[in-house]
Amino acid sequence: MRRIFVNPSLMCADQLRMYGEISALIAAGADLLHIDVMDGSFVPNIQLGTELMKAIKREFSQPLDIHLMIDRPGDKLGYFPIGEGDWVSFHYKASRDPVRVCEAIREMGAKALIALDPETPAGVCAGLEGCADGVLIMTVRPGHAGQKLIPETIEKIRRARAAMPDKIIEADGNVSFKNAGIMTEAGADALVCGSSSLFSGEYGYEESIRILKGGKK
Ligand code: DX5
Ligand code: ZN
Repeated sequence: MRRIFVNPSLMCADQLRMYGEISALIAAGADLLHIDVMDGSFVPNIQLGTELMKAIKREFSQPLDIHLMIDRPGDKLGYFPIGEGDWVSFHYKASRDPVRVCEAIREMGAKALIALDPETPAGVCAGLEGCADGVLIMTVRPGHAGQKLIPETIEKIRRARAAMPDKIIEADGNVSFKNAGIMTEAGADALVCGSSSLFSGEYGYEESIRILKGGKK
């Protein structure tokens, strides 16, 4: 049995109560804190920034799962408080030199994940396995919470797992309690959990995480 990482999407948490939200999520057994960075250019939205990440690092030791939805991520890694134990994903489509970006992320002590938009085939990762620690497969269009799963992305998870048996495969977008089971069955071992599950209010954080990790409802 693979360990399943449940990474809460902080853009879906109560923004005015972030300290309490993060404390409660960690106490409930959440894994890495997923932080969506959106630049208003690569995606049509602007989301979480560097000061929030620095503040989290001052108060908590939980590793971050930084998802860069920004143009030319390789030029901007120095803006972020990336360190040992963190995961950093950047979009294949947004980067001019994915190998170099992976290397730079690893030099900062973090794991490098290549993020794939729904239209980017998993095959682009062939040849990048040596420098990447995994892939983040977008299961909705990047940019907004609250969308519906694009069903074809499940097959993409399956293909990615077959091609990369030992890498991290993270699913991001519409990870509902039902879709979580479908995604992990297809081979995902990390789930970005937002408005569709953890923050839906259906269960408390602890119960939600238990179910998302494969426990019975
Ligand atoms: C985008 C985000 C979203 C979102 C997840 O990268 O990570 O996918 O916050 O939550 P829902 O469940 O709303 O898709
Ligand atoms: Zn994300």
